[in-house]
Amino acid sequence: MTRHKALGPLLLAGAVLIAGAGVAAGLSGAEAAKARMEHMKALGAASKAVYEQVKTGAPDLAVVRLNAAKIDSAAKALPTWFPAGSGQSAEPKSHALPVIWTDAAGFDTKAKALAAASAKLVVVANGSDAAAVGPAFKDVGAACKGCHETFKAKDKD
Ligand code: HEC
Repeated sequence: MTRHKALGPLLLAGAVLIAGAGVAAGLSGAEAAKARMEHMKALGAASKAVYEQVKTGAPDLAVVRLNAAKIDSAAKALPTWFPAGSGQSAEPKSHALPVIWTDAAGFDTKAKALAAASAKLVVVANGSDAAAVGPAFKDVGAACKGCHETFKAKDKD
């Protein structure tokens, strides 16, 4: 027991060092996976907001503009949401398939396709042709699907 007491401060110092190293290197794999899932949910919400406008047949360009900007900045940040070691082995609830890391170039191509489509949606949203929103949004949706079908696991539940 006395031995453990003596070791306590040493172990604590070690734990602090390890925690410090973790922070310096960024999030843990599980933390990165959870943060990513939240980012994707927000991306889903922004896309749904645009879709709701498209469905009205007369999209409100102000709403589209706001959400197109969110989609576009998310699309640009997306590649940084997938650090190595943040897959399903780090976070079992994740739907991120291992192929994201074994085919990083393929994944990057899909991320770029979304960024290209979202940039076009931003241009449309900043214009005055509400009828152009639907087709531009369709391309965004196709880019989401284009990545999900290869790199995201189908719902297990
Ligand atoms: C380059 C690939 C890629 C693109 C592009 C992409 N996603 Fe994802 N998305 C993923 C992966 C991989 C996951 C699984 C992440 C996880 O569970 O760790 C995911 C998960 C999601 C989820 C589930 C989040 C959760 O955990 O509940 C939603 C919603 C989502 N994406 C929406 C979108 C929308 C909307 C778009 C397009 C605007 C999009 N994604 C574009 C790869 C992508």
